[in-house]
Amino acid sequence: MAIDPYKRRQQRLDAKRGVKRVDEDAEEGMPGLPRISRSGKFLLTASIVAAIATIGAVFWDRESVKRADTADPDNAAQVQLGRAVYFGHCAYCHGDALEGKPGWQQTFPQGGRPPTPLDADGPSPLRSDKALFEIVKYGGQPYSPRGYRNDMPGYEHRLDDAEIWAVIAYVQKQWPDAVREERRDLNR
Ligand code: HEC
Repeated sequence: MAIDPYKRRQQRLDAKRGVKRVDEDAEEGMPGLPRISRSGKFLLTASIVAAIATIGAVFWDRESVKRADTADPDNAAQVQLGRAVYFGHCAYCHGDALEGKPGWQQTFPQGGRPPTPLDADGPSPLRSDKALFEIVKYGGQPYSPRGYRNDMPGYEHRLDDAEIWAVIAYVQKQWPDAVREERRDLNR
């Protein structure tokens, strides 16, 4: 490495005055650790900053998901929370693959319909996000005709609103893009 002119002049002056300086560039580094070059230090700092930024972003996503008041199937953190809610509360009726229970398509004038599929083959994509939210929060009964027994339970006292939006995001994430595109108008 070439010695820069400023340093050379300084060394000459120091020699004249009998001053001894510790040359910073010749410093040994920590014992037992390899000395890190200037560009190495830059890369190290840059990757630490990047890591902190990533952790911060993930944390921020999780925090904002706890306050969400919409379903966004493209939000990975919300979908992840929704998946946990789904398998904790919904899968045993609606199925691991959202396939519902056999026989749901028959006519049930008095109600007691088996769990409908929540996948794109069931009726759910035809409902607005708000309607889906309300069915999960308050159960199916308030939205059923008189005399019809609806076995979809309400989750008002078991899930908070953000968890309900998250499970809806998880369900919608399983629908093909074309289906999600088709129902965009439902939410207007
Ligand atoms: C005890 C069984 C059971 C559980 C648990 C359950 N459901 Fe249901 N759900 C049903 C039944 C039965 C229906 C159909 C009701 C009817 O149409 O008569 C239904 C209907 C629905 C519908 C309306 C489907 C439509 O478009 O008509 C949605 C949305 C839904 N469930 C979501 C969920 C979610 C999300 C969870 C978990 C938080 C959940 N359900 C848990 C039994 C269940």
